[in-house]
Amino acid sequence: MPTRAQALMWARQQLEAGESPALDSDIILGHILGCSSASLYAWPEKPLEDNQWQSFQAVIARRHTGEPVAYIVGEQGFWNLTLQTHPSTLIPRPETELLVELVLAKSFADNTQLLDLGTGTGAIALALAGENPSWQVLGVEFNGEAVKLAHTNAKLNNITNARFQQGDWAQDIGEGWHCIVSNPPYIDPQDPHLSQGDVRFEPLSALVAQDSGLADIKIIAQQAIQRLNSDGWLLLEHGYDQGQAVRDILLASGFDQVQTELDYGQRERVTMGKKP
Ligand SMILES: C[S@@+](CC[C@H](N)C(=O)[O-])C[C@H]1O[C@@H](n2cnc3c(N)ncnc32)[C@H](O)[C@@H]1O
Repeated sequence: MPTRAQALMWARQQLEAGESPALDSDIILGHILGCSSASLYAWPEKPLEDNQWQSFQAVIARRHTGEPVAYIVGEQGFWNLTLQTHPSTLIPRPETELLVELVLAKSFADNTQLLDLGTGTGAIALALAGENPSWQVLGVEFNGEAVKLAHTNAKLNNITNARFQQGDWAQDIGEGWHCIVSNPPYIDPQDPHLSQGDVRFEPLSALVAQDSGLADIKIIAQQAIQRLNSDGWLLLEHGYDQGQAVRDILLASGFDQVQTELDYGQRERVTMGKKP
């Protein structure tokens, strides 16, 4: 049987056409051996057992077809949390951490009521609830499987001040919110990126919106202005080329102090507005 180092070298060659062959190989072998990626390098000469080598080859073949690592290993890091993932919803993205940072920068008071629309794995809701134990966070999600996943992720991360329910945006949600956040589907159905890379394995219901990707953002803005308290904030993640369109939507919906923040790649990524 190959050693850990030999197995990793083989896997990197198999995945060399991908974006991150070394990282993917490390995470997958660590998952199969039940150890951290870092500890793989502590004993590079240790041989794999037969069943480990068979499993590793099978899983690397899945990754070779493009299946995302987060679906293969069933988890993804987000903020300071480890979240279970499932093909029913989006794999949390690092750029979404900007939305979390921007909410925290607003220094909302204790007992803030925060609503996360389209919560998916619960990523945004759980990150914010975990940082602010006095807040009450509600995550709403259309997909029932994803609602179960968000519940599981709350338990796994010992977060008790976030709850989750199935629903269609804020349709069945009352008023009284200090902050509403969302990372909704915002990709145009014709976008060629939908047939490339990891997104091919993610559900279109988590990615795509009509009206050049803006249909859900328009619904959320209209619902949010009715449900926020005065001085409450709406923060929305969107595509890098949708900043102006989203600012226009928020202004037309009645928000003021509308502004867009850039992500780490210097692209317009989150637009926010305050209810007067
Ligand atoms: C882009 S994903 C974001 C998931 C998660 N908030 C995150 O940032 O990783 C959008 C989510 O919105 C959900 N969604 C789509 N339409 C919805 C609707 N009408 N009401 C509630 N959630 C919806 C999708 O199922 C998906 O989980």
